[in-house]
Amino acid sequence: MYGKIILFILLAVLIQYLIRLWTFLGYYKDVKYHHTPGPCRTLYEEDGSEDLSVLKNGLAFITSGYYLEKGKVKLFDFNDPRHGVEDLPILGIDAVPNFMAHPHGLSIWEHPETGVLYLYVLTHPPDQDRVEVFEFDQTKRELKYIKSITDPLFRSMNDLVLVDIDKFYITQIQWFKNTYLAYMEYFLLVKHGEVLFFDGMKARSVASSLHLPNGINSSPDKSLVYVAEFGSQQITVFKRNKDDSLDGIQTVPVDCGVDNIEVDPSSEDLWVGGHPSPGKAIEYNANAGKNRTAPSQVFRMKTSKGLITDVIEIYRNNGTEISASTVATYFKRRILIGSIGSKLLLCDAKYIN
Ligand SMILES: *[C@@H]1O[C@H](CO)[C@@H](O)[C@H](O)[C@H]1NC(C)=O
Ligand SMILES: *[C@@H]1O[C@H](CO)[C@@H](O)[C@H](O)[C@H]1NC(C)=O
Repeated sequence: MYGKIILFILLAVLIQYLIRLWTFLGYYKDVKYHHTPGPCRTLYEEDGSEDLSVLKNGLAFITSGYYLEKGKVKLFDFNDPRHGVEDLPILGIDAVPNFMAHPHGLSIWEHPETGVLYLYVLTHPPDQDRVEVFEFDQTKRELKYIKSITDPLFRSMNDLVLVDIDKFYITQIQWFKNTYLAYMEYFLLVKHGEVLFFDGMKARSVASSLHLPNGINSSPDKSLVYVAEFGSQQITVFKRNKDDSLDGIQTVPVDCGVDNIEVDPSSEDLWVGGHPSPGKAIEYNANAGKNRTAPSQVFRMKTSKGLITDVIEIYRNNGTEISASTVATYFKRRILIGSIGSKLLLCDAKYIN
């Protein structure tokens, strides 16, 4: 009798787990139609554009080479699209070990008094995740390396957003960095992700039990923080408290393995890249993009007082035009769409309001 009850409970737990896994992997969400905001063209083919961010003046900074031991920061000027994308020279890096290893999230901080632009790029050297800090010389169009920031809590980081000089929120997507254990974490659907706050000296956890938190960004006035959870396929809006702790105030389901978030400084809309079939994106990533395609999706989320009021699909593709899109940004009726390991796409925003 008891044996049967226990067996029944175990079976129920197993079935529930399998349904959750099936939903999470999303293989059933075959992308059958394509959707573009207008004509799109490829700006470059290889090494990806995992994260990018555009300034008010139309300069977009791009991290490229997530699958490479040494990646790059690239620059695209929306005002001069014919010029294409250039690699930014970086000065002062001779003595930096494992420099720009597998560059990932990036964030730009403009000093409110001096106007100097600082670029913070998250990288994955073999030992410990690290944030490289650069100053951007606008006239020479080059980066100057300033310093590296790391912390014992930086294990498996994904993206960051600056809220003040050397102060940032950063997502820890998983507990494990080691590949096999990290895959186990994916497939067991455990919610071990966190948001850390680095206060200029050290990091502390400010949000936990998140399911694969990926992209992070803030409202232009820095009062709200947006976090994309790839695992639970949702965006959470957090209110920033005076002590930099976070309180969740809105959660919006997206039905897509959401990745990076960009915030348009003029409209305050969110632009979000993502993976409609997270299982295919995980496979793609496990193969470093080789011999694989993964579908892509981009959303624009309208906001009112920082809260999300509408989620609109802007782009959808089965992976043939662009695979595994991670990020998108908008500037004067043009949209840049980046990917983990392959292309960077520029689309005309012809058919959107
Ligand atoms: C996989 O890629 C390699 C080269 O990177 C190629 O030689 C091989 O044919 C590809 N395999 C398939 C099944 O496409
Ligand atoms: C994607 O769709 C195109 C047609 O629009 C098709 O030719 C291609 O084989 C599809 N690719 C995948 C990976 O489904």
